[in-house]
Amino acid sequence: MEPWTSHRPVNRFAGLPRGVLGRFGGWVMARGGNASQHEVLGLLPVEPGDRVLEVGHGPGVLIRLLLESTEAAFVAGVDPSDVMRSQASKAVAGAILQGRADIRAGTADSVPYGDASFDHTVSVNNVAIWPSLAPGVAELCRVTRPGGTVAIAWHSRTSPSRPERSMALDEDGLDRIQRALRRHCAQVVRHDLTHVVCFTAVRRQVSPPQPFGQPPDADSAT
Ligand SMILES: C[S@@+](CC[C@H](N)C(=O)[O-])C[C@H]1O[C@@H](n2cnc3c(N)ncnc32)[C@H](O)[C@@H]1O
Repeated sequence: MEPWTSHRPVNRFAGLPRGVLGRFGGWVMARGGNASQHEVLGLLPVEPGDRVLEVGHGPGVLIRLLLESTEAAFVAGVDPSDVMRSQASKAVAGAILQGRADIRAGTADSVPYGDASFDHTVSVNNVAIWPSLAPGVAELCRVTRPGGTVAIAWHSRTSPSRPERSMALDEDGLDRIQRALRRHCAQVVRHDLTHVVCFTAVRRQVSPPQPFGQPPDADSAT
């Protein structure tokens, strides 16, 4: 399927890793500098006992960092690529055995967890390859508890890496991510970091159903 940002199909190397090329792509991603993941980790206010979800985790770099450098009680990952789920499961095998981590099949617009299951939900370097933006953002927000954090990051045009710079979104694409988050979240903040542009947002209380005849609130109308 084509992503919402272009008419080119997602590649098998790192976009939706498959086969031998996908295994190599995962190997490359896991051994890169992991600068994007470190930048995003620094924005997540993880408290002891928190539950964190990464959507589109790839080889599992951020999941491993969360397990090693925070006191999160539980870190879950969801990815549509069986190659990536296999690599990530190996990277955090000990935590899976302890029940502190879980890796499942899923996509941004279909996350196999219930409403408000997580304190923080994060996506790094995959939002631009989702087939559509609004359903993915809505789903990340659905599984995040009110008051919890939703973070979405994508390659920045200031990255020292030329391939990363070449994938940067234009301002219109970045605005669309920000607007999609505002439908479900308050305090949507754009962080222009070296490797990624990351939006952080605070999940709003879910509005109770409106009585018949009442207008929807301003945000749901946008
Ligand atoms: C470039 S990799 C990034 C992996 C990891 N987040 C990182 O920063 O190293 C993109 C990942 O997004 C996953 N992906 C592709 N389509 C997706 C979708 N619709 N929803 C969620 N993840 C998706 C791919 O399988 C792949 O693991």
